[in-house]
Amino acid sequence: MTVPLIDGFDRIHRDLRISVTDRCNFRCAYCMPEEGMQWQEREKLLTFEEIERVARLMVERYGITSIRLTGGEPTVRAHLPVLVGKLAALGVDLAMTTNGVTLPTLAADLKMAGLARVNISLDSLQAPRFRELTRRDDLERVLDGIEAAKTAGFDPVKINVVVMKGINDDEIVDFAHFGRDRDVVVRFIEFMPLDADEMWNNDRVMTQAEILAALDDEFDLEPVARTSAPATRWRHRDGRGEVGIVASVSDSFCHTCDRVRITADGQFRSCLFATEETDVRALLRDGSSDDVVAAALERTVAAKWEGHRINQVHFIRPRRSMSEIGG
Ligand code: GTP
Ligand code: 5AD
Ligand code: SF4
Repeated sequence: MTVPLIDGFDRIHRDLRISVTDRCNFRCAYCMPEEGMQWQEREKLLTFEEIERVARLMVERYGITSIRLTGGEPTVRAHLPVLVGKLAALGVDLAMTTNGVTLPTLAADLKMAGLARVNISLDSLQAPRFRELTRRDDLERVLDGIEAAKTAGFDPVKINVVVMKGINDDEIVDFAHFGRDRDVVVRFIEFMPLDADEMWNNDRVMTQAEILAALDDEFDLEPVARTSAPATRWRHRDGRGEVGIVASVSDSFCHTCDRVRITADGQFRSCLFATEETDVRALLRDGSSDDVVAAALERTVAAKWEGHRINQVHFIRPRRSMSEIGG
């Protein structure tokens, strides 16, 4: 029987995000330092069998219906299609967030293994700026990756653009045109304080209202009814495409959050901004039964707080950056 996970908000959790590696083939300035990043030791990473065990437990006991693979960059984990096959067999909506650079070679295999959707992170359409932001000269490969994802049959393909004031906020209209031209859903994401180099500050946040104002000057948009997903959605009135905005900072969606996370090294987190983690890897490796593992998961979710408190005096930046927690 499926028992819903109940938290302090009395809410059911449906969405499990699994980071499969903290490594990445990019070095995005807002996410990790250019050099000297300390990767997790290999033995600390959950094996595919361990990941499958926790995922199965959460699907069967708690009615998790969607799983998203994240990183670092998930496609740098060797044999990823094997894990995709194991998780797809659980019958969930299986998705992945990727930087897109390996999709020209991997998209078809991932689709065949059972991956249903991909979201691709891309913060600039200008080659020099892309190089500066990612510290890699791979814009063309990412654009090829977007085409490869569409050709492989992923639908929809979403593009995540983290908008940073003074850095790429002049590309909002270009990205919206790009979405219409390439038939992909572009989502603009407010910049959150999760970066390794502490590059974030409030003045860098381009808010939902400011993003909408920039779009309004060029396009005729109408709102689309909101689901539990974090993005607010807007449709072009001429019927050609839509854009989304993830307003994590100015209009936090914490009160409807149905997500939990497992890091690549097997730490269970009830919030992107959680300052506490539960060591599930230790339980998976010390012979604990499914009941014991489940009890630890339940305790963590029960202690979930009421939201991230960015912009309040008691906000505490999580110890780990986005590359370690997973998007
Ligand atoms: P779908 O709507 O199913 O495609 O999922 P999604 O939009 O959650 O996927 P994705 O991982 O691409 O998330 C988009 C962006 O939203 C990420 O880049 C994060 O910046 C942000 N985000 C995702 N999950 C959370 C969350 O739980 N809390 C907050 N505050 N931001 C999140
Ligand atoms: N704020 C908002 N989004 C971020 N991402 C990474 N760091 C941040 C941040 N500080 C996004 C990436 C990708 C996903 C994994 O998270 O661009 O879309
Ligand atoms: Fe959920 Fe935490 Fe994100 Fe709020 S900040 S939406 S509670 S994960």
